[in-house]
Amino acid sequence: MKYVITVFGLGFVGITTGLGFAEMGNLVYGYDVDEKRILNIKNGVIPFMEPKLEEVLKKHLNNNFLIANNVRECVEKSDLIFICVGTPFSNNGSADLSYIYDVLDEILVEYEEKKNRVIVIKSTVPPSTTKKKFIPYINEKKTSITTNFTIANNPEFLREGKCWDDFISPDRIVCGVEDKGTETLLRQLYKNFEAPFFAVELNTAEFIKYLSNSLLATMISFSNEMSIAADLIGNINIKDSFKVLHMDKRWDSCNMKSYVYPGCGYGGYCLPKDTKALLYHMRNLGYEPEILKSVINMNEDMSKHAAKKIMTCVKKNNKIAILGLSFKPESDDVRESAASKIIDYLNFRGYSNISAYDPVATTRFKQFYNFDFVEYIQNMDEACRDAEIIVIVTAWKKFANLKTKYPTKKILDLRYFL
Ligand SMILES: NC(=O)c1ccc[n+]([C@@H]2O[C@H](COP(=O)([O-])OP(=O)(O)OC[C@H]3O[C@@H](n4cnc5c(N)ncnc54)[C@H](O)[C@@H]3O)[C@@H](O)[C@H]2O)c1
Repeated sequence: MKYVITVFGLGFVGITTGLGFAEMGNLVYGYDVDEKRILNIKNGVIPFMEPKLEEVLKKHLNNNFLIANNVRECVEKSDLIFICVGTPFSNNGSADLSYIYDVLDEILVEYEEKKNRVIVIKSTVPPSTTKKKFIPYINEKKTSITTNFTIANNPEFLREGKCWDDFISPDRIVCGVEDKGTETLLRQLYKNFEAPFFAVELNTAEFIKYLSNSLLATMISFSNEMSIAADLIGNINIKDSFKVLHMDKRWDSCNMKSYVYPGCGYGGYCLPKDTKALLYHMRNLGYEPEILKSVINMNEDMSKHAAKKIMTCVKKNNKIAILGLSFKPESDDVRESAASKIIDYLNFRGYSNISAYDPVATTRFKQFYNFDFVEYIQNMDEACRDAEIIVIVTAWKKFANLKTKYPTKKILDLRYFL
């Protein structure tokens, strides 16, 4: 069965979702408020670094995947409307749902064709949000319109850098539903995906997503805490210790090793905001989740700890070369990147003679953070040559032979990968 789908928000999740459903033979309209982003996509360009997506975009653009010129008309024709907009954290840590409400306002209007349409929340929202916030909101709006909408949620588990493979070959598909009709429709939509399909309650689906991200963040913070303990004890090879830990048969083929490994803290979009949103949400319910709180504090301390390590190796006016600005290798996403926090703290302590290099993320980083004291260098060797210390903040493969290349330079490998 071929469905008509409108996807709101064409970021990592939205564009992958749209193209994924197009690949499965559905007709997809994509819509984003960011006009520059839309222009890029219309020209067959993915506006961020993500393997495989451009190839798939070229295949489906103007065939099964169309950019919505008139979004209302697209929703009118649609059976399903996927909301994939951002849910960043607000100042107090809570999830900012305003982008989702904007989309709901856009969708919840009168249509000539009176068929039922399903709104699917794919954005990550704290458990109980759909039930307690979106359903009452929709019901209130529905008193002035006759069109019927049902709502479901469908958390996404893809990883940046592997968006396409993770979407097309997921480990599991989770849908929070309230009625049988919506469940049947979503089962049909996902019929050709070879993964177990779980239809669960709305709150359960949202909870499963936070369960996953909070555990990943916990493993990273735990590993970082252990690396600080090892540093304090002294004469411990941290890299070897963790490599040996991974040899335990219980880790075999679970592919979690990169999470149980120290570094300089998790970053990117999801782990920082989802842990903060869950903490805020639990506090509102009168419960202080001590482990989660420590995971977040540990992560925030980690960049300070990394900056202090750098400060013990150099004088204030020495040149510090920061290598790696994206939050992880093979990505140009700089949101909440460790480099930004380390640079900020170094500057705060008066260590402002900083140069920075990244194979792909320099321009994005420069636009995102207002570090006018940082000298951005386009060439890795140039950045290394002039520096008193080379600090590896992101484990790009390109940095792997730095010790051989610069045997006499001070190199601080904050990712334990050299
Ligand atoms: N990035 C990930 O790895 C990942 C993985 C799983 C789940 N998620 C979740 O999915 C959601 C989206 O994440 P993302 O990384 O794709 O975000 P993103 O920031 O890359 O993209 C969000 C897009 O939504 C657009 N947008 C904002 N308001 C809009 C509106 N009213 N109408 C149409 N478009 C609008 C923005 O312009 C932007 O292009 C978040 O809730 C996130 O937590 C992300």
